[in-house]
Amino acid sequence: MAQPIYLDYNGTTPHAPEVIAAMRPFLEQEFGNPSSSHWYGIAPKQAVEQARRQVAGLLNCEANEIVFTSGGTESNNHAIKGIARSRRESGNHIITSCIEHPAVLEVCRALADDGFETTLLPVDRHGLVDPMELKKAIRPGTILISIMHSNNEVGTLQPIEEISAIARSRGITMHTDAAQSPGKVKVDVQALGVDLLSVAGHKLYAPKGVGALYIRSGVQPAKFCHGAGQERGWRAGTENVLEIVGLGQACEIAGRDLDNQGSRMRSLRDRLHQGLRETLGNEVALNGHPEKRLPNTLSLAFRGLAANRILEEIGLDIAASPGAACHSDQVAISHVLQAMGIAPEWAMGTLRFSLGRMTTAAEIDRALEVIPAALRKLRG
Ligand SMILES: Cc1ncc(COP(=O)(O)O)c(C=O)c1O
Repeated sequence: MAQPIYLDYNGTTPHAPEVIAAMRPFLEQEFGNPSSSHWYGIAPKQAVEQARRQVAGLLNCEANEIVFTSGGTESNNHAIKGIARSRRESGNHIITSCIEHPAVLEVCRALADDGFETTLLPVDRHGLVDPMELKKAIRPGTILISIMHSNNEVGTLQPIEEISAIARSRGITMHTDAAQSPGKVKVDVQALGVDLLSVAGHKLYAPKGVGALYIRSGVQPAKFCHGAGQERGWRAGTENVLEIVGLGQACEIAGRDLDNQGSRMRSLRDRLHQGLRETLGNEVALNGHPEKRLPNTLSLAFRGLAANRILEEIGLDIAASPGAACHSDQVAISHVLQAMGIAPEWAMGTLRFSLGRMTTAAEIDRALEVIPAALRKLRG
């Protein structure tokens, strides 16, 4: 049986062939510890440093501003807890948004036990944070602002440059969770003006379990993991050489192919959107910003239907994600759609289609047959 068409690249991505090729020697031969001073340590050490340069190249920073982590969640933990701890003397207030990934929201929630207070900024119906609201939320003890670069569910891109400028003018450290962005849109830490930025390998064709944190030179989060001093002491533990090499290669390709891939994904995504609009008319609505949005992301609300029922119906043909989860007879609408004020009759029938490097026009055309047919069936 043919595999379903994969339209869940924001969930995770397959490994790019170039990533597999770059990792292979470290799976098969180069087993050495990069900290070893003998011959076996040389190639792994060089490979880790090469990967650091590749990540830095994509983000437009110095290699020594990159720390490797186990992924987006760890990078966010490291950034937020690290700054909270190191800036404790200056205050206990953090600002974030109510549409962040749990890898930010739960970290802030946990810090409440240590006396930190968090303000959750609202968003508008497109999922945008208003910089004026941010200004109002700042108080004398505000030490950290963490606003995501792009939203994983609806793809909305935040005005990070503007937000960073506000943070900088008030002496507040600025972090952005960019787990979803590299390879889809340009991510330049100088242009963005951020102090810390999180990257997740498995969203850009590298393996699961590897990521990176950009820490601007001079910014000093508290040490995250104490031990033998790897990663300049920020994050001790023998390096995950294999996957770090994969992440480096993934960043190299992401930068090289950004323009091509960005426009290719956008045109396929818009073909899907347009096609569904033509057949479904006002039964379908877009969630997220019409323009300020990741080029691969299409969150669509199908009025009056349950997302899980649609996924069951299309599941043999298409893999996508629900915007609402059905537990027994209760429908739990995602916190992102709730914060955007999407009416329940639309939110409960929301699906996220996310495209990637491997998506083809033939797959989109097939999706344009399968989805309307499933909806017709469900509506009887
Ligand atoms: C916006 C965002 N932040 C953080 C994460 C967590 O990244 P990881 O799975 O690498 O821990 C994800 C993963 O879905 C994400 O979409």
